[in-house]
Amino acid sequence: MIPRERFLRAIKKEDVDRTPVWIMRQAGRYLKEYRELKERYSFTELCKNSELATIVSLIPVKYAELDAIIVFGDILLPLEPVGMSVSFNQDGKPSVEGSIERLSIKWEPDLLKEAEEKLSFIGKTIKNLRSEKKEYAIIGFSGAPFTLLSYVIEKKGAGDFSKTRALALKERKKWHLAMENLSKLITKYLVVQAKSGADVVQIFDSWVGWLSPYEYRELVQRHTRRIIEEVEKFVPVIHFSTGSSGILEEIASAGGSVIGVDWRIYIDEAWRRVGYERAIQGNLDPAILLTNRKEIENGVKDILKRIGNRNGHIFNLGHGILPDTPVENMQFLVDLVHRLSQRE
Ligand code: CP3
Repeated sequence: MIPRERFLRAIKKEDVDRTPVWIMRQAGRYLKEYRELKERYSFTELCKNSELATIVSLIPVKYAELDAIIVFGDILLPLEPVGMSVSFNQDGKPSVEGSIERLSIKWEPDLLKEAEEKLSFIGKTIKNLRSEKKEYAIIGFSGAPFTLLSYVIEKKGAGDFSKTRALALKERKKWHLAMENLSKLITKYLVVQAKSGADVVQIFDSWVGWLSPYEYRELVQRHTRRIIEEVEKFVPVIHFSTGSSGILEEIASAGGSVIGVDWRIYIDEAWRRVGYERAIQGNLDPAILLTNRKEIENGVKDILKRIGNRNGHIFNLGHGILPDTPVENMQFLVDLVHRLSQRE
């Protein structure tokens, strides 16, 4: 089975010869070639120059038999053409300047059109990837509206998001207007990726685990649901979040052909709660890749045992691969997943 077929069959919960595997942030600082490119180009250059982004996206499959290539980019880039200023410091830490006021007014229809043009690098990169690598699944991606808006409000992606939570509850009208605008932008951005050749897209709602079930339902769910409904007219969506085991049912109910979970929940418990009609993605603790072969083997075996060869599992880490990960451990992991999940 070629990787692309294996990956797409797993999304549809069909039989596969072995469990497909990819790694969040698989193209990043733990790779020597990436660090070398970063000495010559800034992070935003690497994202926006499609030739360079194509090169970066393709580094990981030289190292391991991954089943998918995720287009290189960043979830914060779509904020730029709608009036936010996004920058990354030397260590790659992002900061966003701009305010929710700019996002909660009625947007001129031209603004979205112009934004699409300014973000056209993503479609170009995906077209390059599609024409160069027919045998791999190509994954497009976007941030979810909650995670993007929380960056605008907090200015950085750390802390407890209390400012965001309080503002959203206190100023609901403003909040929902901004979420609606961002949702339109995200939908367009994802549909362009699908039309350019992405086989599947992942929505990163990285920080939504900070919300109570009530807050998720009131403030977020309808927006994410809308995006997924629209995008799934074109390609399947992987709906990923972290720290969200308290609101897993609410997240699943917003949609997604695949639900991605982090390591703080047993994957079989997550799948039972999500429902077996969906596929599941996850969920090895990224810190395990900082240890040794024995621990990696223990972690992988536990996950595969819990899945029990039920169709519809995509193996991944529970969150992005850590910059200090030895590349040999990533290679060992990918080989191991394929070896241990080989069907009779
Ligand atoms: O997965 C991939 O290989 C594709 C590329 C990708 C990046 N960021 C590259 C990147 C993807 C899918 C993202 C998503 C992203 N970006 C998320 C959601 C995923 C998650 O981890 O929850 C978030 C929250 C961001 C915002 C962001 N961009 C942060 C928090 C940081 C700094 C911290 C970090 O982990 O590096 C970035 C910078 C960034 N994005 C780098 C890379 C390779 C590092 C930049 C550098 O090399 O200096």
